[in-house]
Amino acid sequence: MSSTSSTSSTPTKPRVVPAVGAIPAIDVRAITKDYGDGGVVYRALKGVDLVVHQGEFLMLVGPSGSGKTTLLSIIGCVLRPTSGELRLFGETVSGLPESQLPEIRLGNIGFIFQGHNLIASMSARENVALVNRMRGAPTKDALEEAQFLLDKVGLHGKGDKKPTMLSGGERQRVAIARALAGHPPIVLADEPTASLDATSGLVVTKLLKELSHELGTTVLVVTHDNRIFHLADRIVNIEDGLITDGTPEHA
Ligand SMILES: Nc1ncnc2c1ncn2[C@@H]1O[C@H](COP(=O)(O)OP(=O)(O)O)[C@@H](O)[C@H]1O
Ligand SMILES: [Mg+2]
Repeated sequence: MSSTSSTSSTPTKPRVVPAVGAIPAIDVRAITKDYGDGGVVYRALKGVDLVVHQGEFLMLVGPSGSGKTTLLSIIGCVLRPTSGELRLFGETVSGLPESQLPEIRLGNIGFIFQGHNLIASMSARENVALVNRMRGAPTKDALEEAQFLLDKVGLHGKGDKKPTMLSGGERQRVAIARALAGHPPIVLADEPTASLDATSGLVVTKLLKELSHELGTTVLVVTHDNRIFHLADRIVNIEDGLITDGTPEHA
């Protein structure tokens, strides 16, 4: 491939070859977020730095009001930071015009919310298919993938059911399937176990972890549910708008 004639006597120079996945999936740099305009301004994020590696299952842990949802919304390109930089897979997205954010979001991010946020009038299968239809997939393909994912989350045979006919744990499984539809490289989960009992919370989080490992998805779970902490590859703490502590990064 190169014309360099490497003789055996020439010592090989160490080459800097980035490891697979060396570019972080999520790279948050000095992000601040102020709420309020004109009058009283509240600084919800006070300069957050956070790196999430490709394929990691990271938990962001902090008390209520510490800025978890705000940070997740910024990473998910739902909310723009007041200052600082957000890179997704090495691309700076924080400076992009608002009009480009929906496309970035659809292409990169799957969301799981605290409440499942399923559309009540649609079946589980239609709910899961919706995001891919928004991405432009033909309805038939989107529904087929939805059924595949519902099978994966253990809801075989329940695709026709409306959300109200499913248990809390089942609804959150549908939400997981929906977040994974179209294989977004990043899944963001905001307190996904908050409305579940201990057993379902654990089962659902394990499922999310297994599926994301299988698909190579990077997952950021925001939580203060200590029943699921042990499932994290790494835990980072946030308090009062600042990252305060975390275990060493898994490079
Ligand atoms: N839209 C908003 N307008 C004003 N203040 C907000 C808004 N959203 C959140 N906040 C405030 O920002 C802080 C962080 O909120 P949030 O990110 O929701 O925290 P968490 O998810 O950790 O509970 C809280 O003090 C909250 O009251
Ligand atoms: Mg929150």
